[in-house]
Amino acid sequence: MPTELRPSYPVRTERLLLRPLTLADTDALVAYRSIPDLCRFVPFHPQSRDEIQARIKGVFANHALTAEGQNLTLGMEVAATGELIGDVILFYHSRLHAGGEVGWILNPAHGGHGYATEAARAMLRLGFEELGLRRIIARIDERNVASARLARRLGMRQEARLVENEFFKGEWTTELDFAMLATEWFASHSAPSEVATG
Ligand SMILES: CC(C)(COP(=O)(O)OP(=O)(O)OC[C@H]1O[C@@H](n2cnc3c(N)ncnc32)[C@H](O)[C@@H]1OP(=O)(O)O)[C@@H](O)C(=O)NCCC(=O)NCCS
Repeated sequence: MPTELRPSYPVRTERLLLRPLTLADTDALVAYRSIPDLCRFVPFHPQSRDEIQARIKGVFANHALTAEGQNLTLGMEVAATGELIGDVILFYHSRLHAGGEVGWILNPAHGGHGYATEAARAMLRLGFEELGLRRIIARIDERNVASARLARRLGMRQEARLVENEFFKGEWTTELDFAMLATEWFASHSAPSEVATG
């Protein structure tokens, strides 16, 4: 079973190219990562241009998963227009347990078209089919209804509701835990994958 993920970029989906972020993406990233409402349920606060550029040169510059504790952030580019509309992340939590986690954020100007779902599904595919993960989770604030819908749309199973388990951004928050196993992924994606790399 593989324990490293080194995708060939871009990772192609039906409508998107998933690829590493560069400084040329700064304006597109600022356009949504600086919006307070959009950052309400994500681990980071609204980001300035300088903070975003520091991330592009820092954690976003990691383009592979070779050891647990790492994470991989990829931009979602609309293939037809070249627009950068959001980003997705895959965390490699544990080699022993073959466990990972996914996350997503989308410019609201491009919401409601299934782009985030399409990108997140590609990250599940990379995690299960290329990195060899056995279990991938998503942790979502109960009030983040759009995000919970997205997890369900991906076929992830809600396994837990942790009542007021975290003091997050100044308030006690209730967390919904979603998960999918590799067996479940392969059961519903037994046909040749719709995602191609290269
Ligand atoms: C969570 C978030 C990405 C969801 O955005 P979204 O636009 O609902 O997600 P998608 O791009 O996958 O679009 C799905 C919507 O498009 C619709 N849709 C239209 N065409 C579609 C298609 N081809 N495929 C799938 N869905 C489609 C779906 O029905 C769905 O709408 P619904 O939820 O009203 O039923 C967005 O709200 C966001 O960025 N939130 C802030 C960041 C955040 O909280 N991240 C999660 C932290 S845990």
